[in-house]
Amino acid sequence: MSVVAVIGAQWGDEGKGHIVDVLAERARLVVRYGGGNNAGHTVVNRRGTFKLHTVPSGIFDPSTVNVIGNGVVIDPAVLVRELDELQARGVSVDGLFISERAHVVMPYHVLQDQRDEAQRGDARIGTTGRGIGPAYADKMARTGIRVGDLLDEAGLRDRLTTVLALKRWLSDDDSTAAALDPVTIAARYAAYGVRLAQHITDSYPIVQQALERGAPILLEGAQGALLDIDHGTYPYVTSSAPGTAGAAQGSGIAPTAIDTVLGVFKAYATRVGAGPFPTEVDGDAAAVLRQIGTPWAEVGTTTGRLRRVGWFDAVLARYAVRLNGIDTFALTKLDVLDTLAEIPVCVGYRLDGAPVMHPPMRAGELARIEPVYEVMPGWQQPTTAIRHIGALPAAAQAYLGRIGDLIGARPALVSVGPAHDQIIELLPLLPATAG
Ligand code: IMP
Ligand code: MG
Repeated sequence: MSVVAVIGAQWGDEGKGHIVDVLAERARLVVRYGGGNNAGHTVVNRRGTFKLHTVPSGIFDPSTVNVIGNGVVIDPAVLVRELDELQARGVSVDGLFISERAHVVMPYHVLQDQRDEAQRGDARIGTTGRGIGPAYADKMARTGIRVGDLLDEAGLRDRLTTVLALKRWLSDDDSTAAALDPVTIAARYAAYGVRLAQHITDSYPIVQQALERGAPILLEGAQGALLDIDHGTYPYVTSSAPGTAGAAQGSGIAPTAIDTVLGVFKAYATRVGAGPFPTEVDGDAAAVLRQIGTPWAEVGTTTGRLRRVGWFDAVLARYAVRLNGIDTFALTKLDVLDTLAEIPVCVGYRLDGAPVMHPPMRAGELARIEPVYEVMPGWQQPTTAIRHIGALPAAAQAYLGRIGDLIGARPALVSVGPAHDQIIELLPLLPATAG
């Protein structure tokens, strides 16, 4: 079990940063494989609280090699800021490598993302406004700029001249015209290339050598399975494949080389941005789930938006388990439910009175779903100090067991607070013996 993919199995923000931070100590290589700085991973460890957007969460362990894989889209302005902040706080970034094949989020992508959202009006997706969709669209349209291109200013200028000629329609006023000048952009982005040069490399040999040695490898997901471009709640999705297939593609690790897939689920559900959310709640229950006033309130790490909250949806969870080959799961933030007397879990769907076994293709239909709830008893005692499964209240063990049965995966980890050690481990992932 030496290659473990850790994927978000809901709508992102499941607490992957915490889980990866714990597992990274046992890995020799951590590869972030998709998304961009639309992601925000909060990591709390003995060095403090960090909010990572592009850098893999294995960065805190100096013996771990961290790779930003080819499947990621990178805004170099944001990455440089992130590296500066890590270094200022004493975290070495020497072990960070950036795939030269990863695509670059350019300033015109950010402009286009924000303008598209404004024009969509009520039909807006609620993107993070970071240029992610347009960057992936350019990648697929074969008009993208790759990280390796930043290392050659003249070549970058030529490439931008070709690419930007196709984007004239964006420059209909003076401010955007300036954002589309190839010479200016090439100079600025080549400077980022100089700053990042020591990290930019072909990640293929790094990854293949680690595989050959049987070294423990962690594939770090961003976003979540329900935001998947193909299988998510389209068009209310992100523009990449955040699941296991994307992990293979975005890291250059063959699907058959992935030994186990750890799906990360929150003990309830949250979503930022627009789109259907069958188990969404408001009122008193929402206030409990949101934990406003705590440092780990349900507020977006990247955008500061209040997250929508709801009950655990086992129909969507099972869908994510099957599509991604999730065999083990982490249940995070169990402690958030500590005060509740009753905890509803969505075990089925009805649409226009008829049972539905999996999410329909149309976002409009998913929005009309009536969830069927099973109400589980709460435990109404703190779990934050518990470190062994046997010490969890019986009702909490029953909640965990019921979720495992409903989704068809084995529980491996439970988090009971944001601190590094607030974890209960049920199955040894990446045992120290590997590699
Ligand atoms: P985009 O990825 O910025 O294009 O945004 C598309 C949708 O995905 C929006 O609903 C975002 O809120 C959501 N999204 C993107 N990245 C994340 C994430 O890391 N966590 C949670 N939601 C995300
Ligand atoms: Mg997040």
